[in-house]
Amino acid sequence: MLEIQPEYVRMMTWFKCAIMEIETKLNVLNQEFSLQYDRNPFESINTRLKSTASIVDKLNRRGLEISVDSIMNNLTDIAGIRVVCSFQEDIYSVARMLTSQDDVSLIQIKDYIKNPKPNGYRSLHLILAIPIFLSQETRYVKVEVQFRTIAMDFWASLEHKMHYKKHIRNADMISERLAKCSDMIEQIDLEMQSIRHMIEKE
Ligand code: GTP
Ligand code: MG
Repeated sequence: MLEIQPEYVRMMTWFKCAIMEIETKLNVLNQEFSLQYDRNPFESINTRLKSTASIVDKLNRRGLEISVDSIMNNLTDIAGIRVVCSFQEDIYSVARMLTSQDDVSLIQIKDYIKNPKPNGYRSLHLILAIPIFLSQETRYVKVEVQFRTIAMDFWASLEHKMHYKKHIRNADMISERLAKCSDMIEQIDLEMQSIRHMIEKE
């Protein structure tokens, strides 16, 4: 039983702290961004700590040992932050600002905006490592940050619902229509961005 192990409880606290650190960094950037450009880059920021059941499921799926070490070494999405922005260019600005900070290391980047998944999923995923300063030691903890636009988020929530349904009739047709929506969303995101540029030039 992981949950009753003191090391597990301690590790989950590090991940909680890592979420708080990144959230604060995003809030600081939001303050500065709104002062500089007179608008907020973020529509919403949501955080989640992966549940023990999901952790165990994922380790089992990958045939990995169920232990604190195994979690620290193999899983990068225990601490998750989802950042929803209005415009694609804000996603890249904020991601650049965040990753260029001295105490933030970029471990991995998956750009599903430039290279969408075949089903149409779009988002920018970063795996970051940040130091957590504890009383006796410094721990480097990984956090998964997902950036997407409001429209991409809308798409992902509907597409996600499909995964919960065991037997879907018309699955092919639904997938095809979702993929088409994803293309339309890309067009709308770019058009909205372009309109904003025009408005700002006035
Ligand atoms: P996981 O085992 O799910 O973590 O996949 P991965 O390690 O290959 O990571 P990836 O960066 O591709 O995806 C991680 C997370 O992104 C998922 O847990 C979802 O939150 C989100 N995501 C990825 N692909 C999809 C998708 O096709 N649809 C939706 N709705 N969300 C997705
Ligand atoms: Mg993952």
